Amino acid sequence: MVHMGLVGAKTKLFVAVQHELSVKNACYVFWNGMTLLKTPRIDKQAACQTIAVMVQRHFGTIMDADNEDDAQMNIQSGVKEYYGQTLTSSSDLKTDACATVAAPPRYIIDALAAVHDDVSARYYGCGLAIPPVLEGLKVLDLGCGAGRDVYAIAKLVGKTGSVVGVDMTDEQLDVARSHEAWHAEQFGYAKPNTRFLKGYLEKLDELDLEEASFDLIISNCVINLCMDKPAVFRAAYRLLKPGGELYFSDVYADRRMPKDLIDDPILYGECLSGALYWGDYQSIVKQAGFTDPRVVDHRRLEIIDKKLIAKTDPIRFASVTARLVKLERLEPACEDYGQAVIYKGGVEGMETVFKLDDEHQIEAGRVFPVCGNTLAMLMDTRFAAYFDVAGAGKQHFGLFPGCAAPDVFAETIIADPAPVGGCC
Ligand SMILES: C[S@@+](CC[C@H](N)C(=O)[O-])C[C@H]1O[C@@H](n2cnc3c(N)ncnc32)[C@H](O)[C@@H]1O
Repeated sequence: MVHMGLVGAKTKLFVAVQHELSVKNACYVFWNGMTLLKTPRIDKQAACQTIAVMVQRHFGTIMDADNEDDAQMNIQSGVKEYYGQTLTSSSDLKTDACATVAAPPRYIIDALAAVHDDVSARYYGCGLAIPPVLEGLKVLDLGCGAGRDVYAIAKLVGKTGSVVGVDMTDEQLDVARSHEAWHAEQFGYAKPNTRFLKGYLEKLDELDLEEASFDLIISNCVINLCMDKPAVFRAAYRLLKPGGELYFSDVYADRRMPKDLIDDPILYGECLSGALYWGDYQSIVKQAGFTDPRVVDHRRLEIIDKKLIAKTDPIRFASVTARLVKLERLEPACEDYGQAVIYKGGVEGMETVFKLDDEHQIEAGRVFPVCGNTLAMLMDTRFAAYFDVAGAGKQHFGLFPGCAAPDVFAETIIADPAPVGGCC
């Protein structure tokens, strides 16, 4: 890709040749993160140089866009273009980075089925970012797209709950907003319990969102696309109530991404080359305040397109659904206070086994030893009503035995794949 940029007082302008594999070659003029002009199927660099000269005549000096801010703005414009114009439905995707495999519980299938077809057709998520026990919750969806998850959750929280969706792409928000009244009527609510805001996840403090006001924040295949990922996790921590959780699906890589892959618009737009290195993810979320990140589900991604394999090999990618609980009393390691929980049952979709995360699948009625952190995640959150505790927790017995995190890049063995949608 060739970029050239003009940096004015508060404006940034680029001329860029965009190669989207064999899909199209085009010359783009970006201004302030928006696409000002796009020429279809031009003769790449030569024509783009001509446009650059025209732009130069009107606006002044054109410089190489090689500083970090300009390059990031260019990538973000590409992402907007990709989700606003290039993709028109899930079937336009080129990788399975965003195909949800695990079959959700029946009540979630029903909630997803209740979403309008035009919204569902523009689902680009990469996992199931819908946790259990939602009634009455105040929820925020980061990068809501056309709103599939917002509307499914709007049904599940009921009329006493509410869902706010934030996205930066007008075309996605237009689809979401134009279906608010339809869903409210469908769910039997007097007025919509949804709200859609245009904004950047890196600048959530610019939106009308109250600190410590959300019970749950979800996100589905978005943070990998963000330019400043630590800022997104810090904002999520700030916006959550104590005991609230960020429950989200995203794509990760087994190493840090080479720059030439980050600059590839298809790889970036398809949620691959913006993927965080798994090791960096762990450090970033801990620094943001989420002391004990948990993995709920994970799936090794297969890249099917031969050109994409040639570009990315041997990097391994995984789609992970994670749970980050905001609790100040969490400790850096799993510590043993001689305690156990007993699941009383009653959580819809988890009647016999409550799954907190990959390592904690708790059978109803069974005495299940837990570390201090796991106990807090169950008893200082909305799950408390479903558990009894054994042990006073007054004595420390050292490190909790057998504490481990799964290898998210291991080959995924799927006995009976049941895709529930395409995505990113
Ligand atoms: C892969 S799609 C997923 C959309 C939605 N979560 C879903 O499951 O259908 C990514 C979405 O994130 C939005 N997005 C990407 N980067 C963003 C940012 N920095 N701020 C706000 N939205 C962003 C895009 O506009 C797009 O709608």
